[in-house]
Amino acid sequence: MRSADTTTWNPASWQTRKALQQPNYPDNAALESSVAALSRLPPLVVSWEVEALRERLAAAQRGEAFLLQGGDCAESFAECESDRIAKQLKVILQVSLVLLHGLKRPIIRVGRMAGQYAKPRSADTETKDGITLPSYRGDTINRPEFTLEARTPDPELLLRGYERAGLTLNFVRALIDGGFADLHHPEYWDVGFLRHSPAREAYERIVRSIADSLDFFESLTGGPVHEAGRVDFYASHEGLHLHYEQAQTRFIPRAKTWYNLSTHMPWIGLRTAQLDGAHVEYFRGISNPVGVKVGASMDSAWLQGLVTTLNPNNQPGRLTLIHRFGAKDIEKSLPRLIQAVRETGQTVLWVADPMHGNTETTVGGYKTRRLENIMKELELAFDVHEAHGSRLGGVHLEMTGEDVTECTGGARGLSDADLARAYRTQVDPRLNYEQALELALMIAGRSKPRK
Ligand code: PEP
Ligand code: CO
Repeated sequence: MRSADTTTWNPASWQTRKALQQPNYPDNAALESSVAALSRLPPLVVSWEVEALRERLAAAQRGEAFLLQGGDCAESFAECESDRIAKQLKVILQVSLVLLHGLKRPIIRVGRMAGQYAKPRSADTETKDGITLPSYRGDTINRPEFTLEARTPDPELLLRGYERAGLTLNFVRALIDGGFADLHHPEYWDVGFLRHSPAREAYERIVRSIADSLDFFESLTGGPVHEAGRVDFYASHEGLHLHYEQAQTRFIPRAKTWYNLSTHMPWIGLRTAQLDGAHVEYFRGISNPVGVKVGASMDSAWLQGLVTTLNPNNQPGRLTLIHRFGAKDIEKSLPRLIQAVRETGQTVLWVADPMHGNTETTVGGYKTRRLENIMKELELAFDVHEAHGSRLGGVHLEMTGEDVTECTGGARGLSDADLARAYRTQVDPRLNYEQALELALMIAGRSKPRK
């Protein structure tokens, strides 16, 4: 049971509140027809998977597991391709293996995948050479080219996005069911360019050590380690476009409650977390585990309001707070937020997003992030939680299995001058494959195993 407020909740009740970051569709009837078509399609995930994830997140809250949430800032329709999806899965699996080895705790793998198609923007419009057009808001809303036709929001794209999310998830599930994610065979996850990587040796040592441990355990027990040998994988995206989320919200009679079945774990972005806003209204009524991005601009009362509105019954695993301050601000801002949550008497899962507070623009005009700042924020996140009797239970990363040059730094010493070489992101700069592994090695290196 949720708060008394829930009696007035329904999947469309958000429409009575102010909804930020929504596109302006020129044809309302076309939007309604897309939403109606979406609501008839089968869900992408099922409620028992969603519940299983919530239980695992509850374990992370108790310090018995660690969340790795990662993927693209924005997925694109054009990149819904087998090679790219397999590489994205590989980098998540490899990073998780390094974390597993270092933290000696099960890793919960959650992709920013299969639905990460809608983006918040700082301005509604963009002006170039005296022409003003709607901003690009992600492939499920409009198209990036700077023409009126491309930038006009098209509700048909909601269906195209849903289909691609389904295709992506289907491929990921088939790979995992087919044994791709089996810890006995980490060689399946090899990504060509790792062969020349400075991180290769450390990574291979970890792979050998895990393979040896599995062999040892299996020779003792005389059978395969099913539980440890196979991994689960979950999907997540920012629940930004509320018509899309509403259309996939289903009442499950067995559970007597509502779920968003377009993904396992939707989250509310920093720009849409207003207490009286439409996003909080929508999210309070679904039973999925949910995330909220939190930052320095949030005062204590606001955060406390989010905690009590989104999780009135203090249900374990329900609420993950993903903090993103920037290396410069975290020491000043995080203690206040930890204290604010403590005053509510509630438990949350604290996760660090060391990406979004560390974005800068180079002289050459590239939006980038420096690995040293990302690492610093993450180190400080562990320290500050520990110093305040709290616990960092996971990381949230923008990363890709591709060999891109979008963030600087790392063992290869990528500089601003290298960014032009392979800068592919439509929105935020991602860690490339090597940088992601380096970051994982850093976390593994500094973490104390569970007593
Ligand atoms: C994002 O995760 O891509 C994003 C926009 O983050 P935030 O809401 O934290 O700014
Ligand atoms: Co981003």
